[in-house]
Amino acid sequence: MNASGTVDRRAVLTLIGNTPIIAMRFAREGITLHAKCEFLNPSGSVKDRFARAVLLDAEQRGLLKPDSIILECSSGNTGIALSMVGAAMGYRVSILIDDSASNERLWLMRQFGAEVLPFKGKGQYEVGIELSRTMAAADSRYFLPRQFENPLNLEDHEKATGGEILQQMAGPIDAFVTGYGTGATLAGCGLAIKRRWPQAQIIAMEPKEQALLAGEAPCCHKIEGVGDGFIPALLRHAPLDGHVEISSKDAIAMTQRLQREFGLPVGISSGANVAVALQLAAKLGPQASVVTLLCDRAERYFSTPLFSLRDTMSADFVRQ
Ligand SMILES: Cc1ncc(COP(=O)(O)O)c(C=O)c1O
Repeated sequence: MNASGTVDRRAVLTLIGNTPIIAMRFAREGITLHAKCEFLNPSGSVKDRFARAVLLDAEQRGLLKPDSIILECSSGNTGIALSMVGAAMGYRVSILIDDSASNERLWLMRQFGAEVLPFKGKGQYEVGIELSRTMAAADSRYFLPRQFENPLNLEDHEKATGGEILQQMAGPIDAFVTGYGTGATLAGCGLAIKRRWPQAQIIAMEPKEQALLAGEAPCCHKIEGVGDGFIPALLRHAPLDGHVEISSKDAIAMTQRLQREFGLPVGISSGANVAVALQLAAKLGPQASVVTLLCDRAERYFSTPLFSLRDTMSADFVRQ
């Protein structure tokens, strides 16, 4: 119930963003990291921010009609976020998803009432993006959020996510690390942080199996949500100072450590971000202020190696 006494169907939108930053003490390494808890967004990932920003903007500009269908190609998190926000705003949502995405993601989208359209082309975003363009050209009801090209994606992270980080961190930031899918989070937060703290290093985390910024060819990796096989256009706006690689195996091992040692219910890219942030903090020294993101939730990965590679974790993680 809102102030005027009516039920606000869109109330879930108010839960998006303003996520806390936690200080994580890694006693063994003698390092403290600062991690922004994007997994606390209501659908469970950082992508809720873009979904809300793009659909509210489209509505304000009269681009959404009662019979509009929101159509996006997504490996999962954006699809889930658009499905949730679309449900709350009363719009139909269709998500093109390639056949490598985990089932948990499909189930969540369907639960929010979205239509899931699988396409063949494991990890091949371009195929899905092309399909969405073809479908939109043939039917004017389709509205394409276009997460990979839409400048709103970057602008929202610069203003909102980046602005929150600056407000929440008491003093200077020495480094900011995260992976890239569309590159909007890295570019947007990077720009905001660099403007306030020009000495801050903005670092891209990349899957070792597919380190495109290091000149490697696209290949398979297990860090879902990042590394889609190409360098996205929005990433070109990121004020990057470097890139650091992490293997899928090490990312999974760190994610399991975050779960067992810190009780953090986060997904694989969060472990990858933290592993790279730890390396960086070790180089910068114990006083360095390093910020990273915990991008999404663990439940999204039940059917992935995160929940089956238990033996990659050494027992000494547990009791330290
Ligand atoms: C699971 C997940 N989703 C989304 C993102 C950020 O995506 P984008 O680059 O599209 O802003 C990340 C970045 O690390 C991620 O790990």
